[in-house]
Amino acid sequence: MPSAAFGFHCIGCGALSHAPAQDFRCSQCGNLLEITDPAWRSGKLCAADLKSIWHQRRSSNLPLDLSGVWRFRELLPAPQPERHVITLREGNTPLYELPRSSHSTGVRRLFAKHQGMNPTGSFKDAGMTVASTFAKQAGYSWVACASTGNTSASMAAYAARGGLRSLVLVPEGKISWSKVSQALDYGALTCQLRTDFDACLRLLQELVRRAPVYQLNSINPFRLEGQKTLAFELLEQLDWHPPDHIIVPGGNLGNSSAIGKALLEMREIGLIPRLPKLSVIQAEGANALVRTLREASGKQLISVDAETRATAIRIGNPASWQKAVNVIQATGGACEQVSELEIAQAKAEIGAEGIGCEPASAVTLAGLRKLLQQGFVKPDETVVLVLTGNLLKDPDFTMEFHRGNLFRGTIHEPQSAMLNPFRHPPLVLDATLDAVLKTLDQAEKAHPINSNV
Ligand code: F0G
Repeated sequence: MPSAAFGFHCIGCGALSHAPAQDFRCSQCGNLLEITDPAWRSGKLCAADLKSIWHQRRSSNLPLDLSGVWRFRELLPAPQPERHVITLREGNTPLYELPRSSHSTGVRRLFAKHQGMNPTGSFKDAGMTVASTFAKQAGYSWVACASTGNTSASMAAYAARGGLRSLVLVPEGKISWSKVSQALDYGALTCQLRTDFDACLRLLQELVRRAPVYQLNSINPFRLEGQKTLAFELLEQLDWHPPDHIIVPGGNLGNSSAIGKALLEMREIGLIPRLPKLSVIQAEGANALVRTLREASGKQLISVDAETRATAIRIGNPASWQKAVNVIQATGGACEQVSELEIAQAKAEIGAEGIGCEPASAVTLAGLRKLLQQGFVKPDETVVLVLTGNLLKDPDFTMEFHRGNLFRGTIHEPQSAMLNPFRHPPLVLDATLDAVLKTLDQAEKAHPINSNV
C-alpha cells in the first residue's frame, strides 16, 4: 500500500493543499480540487506489477480485495487504518457485448460496462465507498448530498454501513420514487425541496460551511477517485487493449471527469499505450456542456434551465464542467446531445438486449448513433457505452413507455408513434387457457421467432 501522502490540487489556480475546506473548493480562487499523489509520478509504480497484483486479488477473499474499487488501491488515496474502509463489495461490474445494438448501429465491437449492477444499482457506489470512508476517518457523524436520486441512495447505504447519519436534499417531484425509497430504507433524513437539483446543490454548499456535515457530492474529490476504478476494471476486462471510444452520460459531470482522470493516469503509468476517446452525451433539455463547448469553446459555463424525463441528468449548472472539458479535450472526445425520443428508443433497445438500464444511461446508445452519422466513430472501431444506472431505478418511465403514455400531452407526442415497434405493452386477459393461447398465436404471427424484433 502506498503512503497516504496525497494532496489536493486546484484545477483553476494550481494551488496545492493538504487539508481542503469543508466545501472542497480552493481557498484561493474557489475552483474545484482534484487529488494528486506523488507516488504515481515517482516512477515507483510498475505497470506489469500492478496488473499482476490486481489480477491475483481476484481470487482473494479479503474484504478489500473483494471490492472492485479497493482492489485497485495502489491508485487510490490510502485510508488509515485500512480496516475502517466502508465497503459493500462495489465494482466488479459486468462488461456485456451488445449484439443487437451492434447489428443495428453497424459498430462491429460494441460493449456496455454496466455500472447499474453495483450494490445500490448505480455507478455512485464506486465513489461512495472511498468518500464515505474518508468522511468517517475525518471524524464526521453526518454526511450529506444534493441529488437527482442515485447519489442519495448510494450515500444513504454507505452511511448506514459505516454507522454515519445521512442528510439527503432532493428536488421535490422530479426524481424517481424508486431512488427515494432506497434512501428511506437505508435510514437517511430525506428532504424533498421545492426546487431543482442545481438549487439543492447550492444550498448544500452553504450548509456545509455552517454545520459540521461532510458533503458527498462529486465536488468531493474522493468520490471521483473511487469512480476512476470503472476505467481500471474496464481495461482489465479488455486485457489492457484500449477501446477506441468510451461514451458516458453527462449530468453534474463528475463521472466523465473521473473516467478521464483514470485514463490519463493509466497512460502516464504505462498501463495502456494510448488513450481511448472519451465522449459525453447529454439530454437536449439539459445540455449545458454541449452549449459550453459549442458557444464558449469550453472557456465559461453556459447554464441552462434543465428539463428531461431522464431525471438523473436533469442538471443545468454542472459543478464539474471544467474538469469534463479538460478530459474531453485531452482524450480527443466529443460532446453531443440527444432528444427525448432518441433516449426512449435507445433505452428500449438496451432492454431488448436482456440487460436494461435507466433513461439517463440510454443517452449513450443514442449518442453513439449521432457520432457514427458524423463520422466521429467508425464502424470498425471498438466502442464501450457506460451504463450508469439499473433498469429498476425508474419503473414509471418504463411502464409509461410500454403503455404508450410517456409523451402524451407533450411536444413530442406527434412523433412518438415511431417508438411503437419498441413497445411491449402488458395485456389484461380473462384467466382462461383459450385467451392465453390466442394471444400467443397472435404474437407469433406478428413477430415470428427469427424476425429479430
Ligand atoms: N447517469 C445516472 C444514472 C446518474 O444518476 C447520473 C447522475 C449521471 C448519469 C450523470 O453523472 O453527474 O457524474 O455527470 N446522478 C447524480 C445524482 C447527479 O444525484 O444521483 P454525472
